[in-house]
Amino acid sequence: MGHEITILIGTMTGTAELVSDDVRDVLEAAGYRVVIEPMDDLTESIFSRGSTFLICTSTYGQGDVPDNAQAFFSSLQDARPDLSHVQYGLIALGDRTYKATYCGGGRRFDALLSELGATRLGEPLMHDAGSGTLPEDVAVDWVKRWADTWLAREVEVA
Ligand SMILES: Cc1cc2nc3c(=O)[nH]c(=O)nc-3n(C[C@H](O)[C@H](O)[C@H](O)COP(=O)(O)O)c2cc1C
Repeated sequence: MGHEITILIGTMTGTAELVSDDVRDVLEAAGYRVVIEPMDDLTESIFSRGSTFLICTSTYGQGDVPDNAQAFFSSLQDARPDLSHVQYGLIALGDRTYKATYCGGGRRFDALLSELGATRLGEPLMHDAGSGTLPEDVAVDWVKRWADTWLAREVEVA
C-alpha cells in the first residue's frame, strides 16, 4: 500500500468537496491511500495521523476561510502546534473579481501552516471561478504534476 495523503476540505457550497473527490481518484490511481476530512470539527490532532496533507479550501467574506473551517483555523492559531513533520499541498478556490482577497482562504492556511513549521510542496493551485474553467478539471491536471514532482520523490527517498 502506498503513502497516505489526507485531504482537508474547507467549503461553503461544495465545490472544494467535488474537487477533492476527483483529486482523490487521481491519487488513488497513482497508488496512494487517500483519506478525506471535511474541516468541520477538526482539531490539531488531525496532524498526528500522518505527514502528507492536501488543503483544499474556498474563500468567503473578506478573504476568509469558509464557515466549516473557521473553528479549525482558530484552534490552530491558538494552540500553535509544532507542524514541522507536516508537508502539504494547497488547492485554493476563489474568484478574481474579489481582487485583493483572491483565494484568501487558501492564502491564510498557507501562511499559518508555514508559521507553524509545516513545509509546502510546490506552488499552490489557485482557481478563479470566473475563468471559465472547471476547478475539478484544473485540479486533476495540477495534482498529477504535484504527485509526480513531490510525492514520487518523497516515496523513493523514504
Ligand atoms: C459570498 C461570497 C464571498 C466570496 N468571497 C471571496 C473572496 O473574498 N475571495 C475569493 O477569491 N473568492 C471569494 N468567493 C468565491 C468562492 O471562494 C468560489 O466561488 C469557490 O469556488 C466556492 O467554493 P465552495 O463551493 O467550495 O465554497 C466568494 C463567494 C461568495 C458566494
